[in-house]
Amino acid sequence: MSSIKQVLSKDMVGKKVQLRGWIYRTRSSGGIVFAVLRDATGIIQVTVKKGNVPDHDFEDAAKAAIESSVMIEGEVAEDKRAPGGFEVRASRFTVVGFSEPFPITEYQSTELLLDQRHLWIRSREQNAVAKVKAALLKGARDWFHENDYVEVTPPIVTAVAPEDSTTLFQIKYFDRIAYLSQSAQFYLESLIFSLEKVYSLTPSFRAEKSRTPRHLAEYWHMEMEAAWMDNEGNMEVQEQLVTAMLQNAVKECPMELQLLKRDPATLRKIEPPFERMKYQEAMDYLQSKGQDVRWGSDLGAIEERTITVDKQLPVFIVNYPKELKPFYMKENPEDPRTYKNSDLLAPEGYGEIIGGSERETDNARMIAWLEEKGENMDNYKWYLDLRKYGSVPHSGFGLGIERIVTWVCKLDHIRDAIPYPRTVARVYP
Ligand code: 4AD
Ligand code: MG
Repeated sequence: MSSIKQVLSKDMVGKKVQLRGWIYRTRSSGGIVFAVLRDATGIIQVTVKKGNVPDHDFEDAAKAAIESSVMIEGEVAEDKRAPGGFEVRASRFTVVGFSEPFPITEYQSTELLLDQRHLWIRSREQNAVAKVKAALLKGARDWFHENDYVEVTPPIVTAVAPEDSTTLFQIKYFDRIAYLSQSAQFYLESLIFSLEKVYSLTPSFRAEKSRTPRHLAEYWHMEMEAAWMDNEGNMEVQEQLVTAMLQNAVKECPMELQLLKRDPATLRKIEPPFERMKYQEAMDYLQSKGQDVRWGSDLGAIEERTITVDKQLPVFIVNYPKELKPFYMKENPEDPRTYKNSDLLAPEGYGEIIGGSERETDNARMIAWLEEKGENMDNYKWYLDLRKYGSVPHSGFGLGIERIVTWVCKLDHIRDAIPYPRTVARVYP
């Protein structure tokens, strides 16, 4: 058995091959059926000529609709008119599973494609996105392991709210209330006292009510935390990690990137250092572009787009005002109105893909903040303990996997960066 990718090559011309897959397109003319077959690796035309295959095979080939699963045997030939330049001239054509009329045809509404997501994920675009995503994840994992980070497995059910407490999903947990994790950060922080450098890949949950092209209610979150690291070191890790992820996607998925209309050359050019722009500079720049912002304005999709639309490389925005970020970040001694933190924005208008910071080590400061927010201190006692027993400077960040996939695959909407997007309107299928 071969894969379609293996068969699409000059060395294979004249060879006998066996393939299996699904009918992607089919038409017949006279005594010939032209069936385009797809498998995990690509598409190829199979011509089934009456008389060249058993009669029964020809009848099945003529009536098999798209998405029928088939096994074929035949000889590889060059054919300029066929997609990819090669075809297989069948000597056998066996239908394994006939398909009912497929509910997805060309030009479907977004809603229908979401209702039929379990079938739409068979599309070539979704196939390509899934492979690029896997290559990005592999690039990240390889980088972490080469740099002595230990992969750890933090809990998903928690009682803490590292980020905005208004976006917590509450669950019934036996006879108590608990939340779905927004971030593994606090647990990763606890693990650095033994492992020093850790990372995790977990689902994170945000009950985001707004429908935007860059928010999911459930997304995959790659987070790292390292002892003895300041915010500059933290940004250096981010530059190297993102570069390693892109390099691996370019290496493993050049065809998939092209199918998605992403020129791999634009990704190959991306390497450290990435520009660092102070929050204040970002405000000045946005004002120069006529935007109505001032000190204390948050950077939303529009502002991030303005900053990055003409950029070729990602850019860090550093030292946000404290009122815009969570309590666990370390105060910036050079400007105590701000934190030692950064957001990494992807170029071409895509915006935030990473949020990170050096962590506060002064418990008094964190307690004051939590009290002001009216948080239940009992839930944070363990977290505050971490500063009592051998506290060390440390930093970390969280990277939204679907955010980086959206950018790398040039997607219009983050829902296409995940097979089953969870949004305010949808948990089916
Ligand atoms: O900026 P965020 O909220 O930061 C944290 O959660 C930190 N505790 C992470 C850490 O330091 N360990 O989220 C981190 C990243 C964002 O930059 C974004 O890429 C992604 O997670 N993200 C989302 N992705 C998809 N849908 C959403 N609703 C997202 N919210 C955040
Ligand atoms: Mg953020």
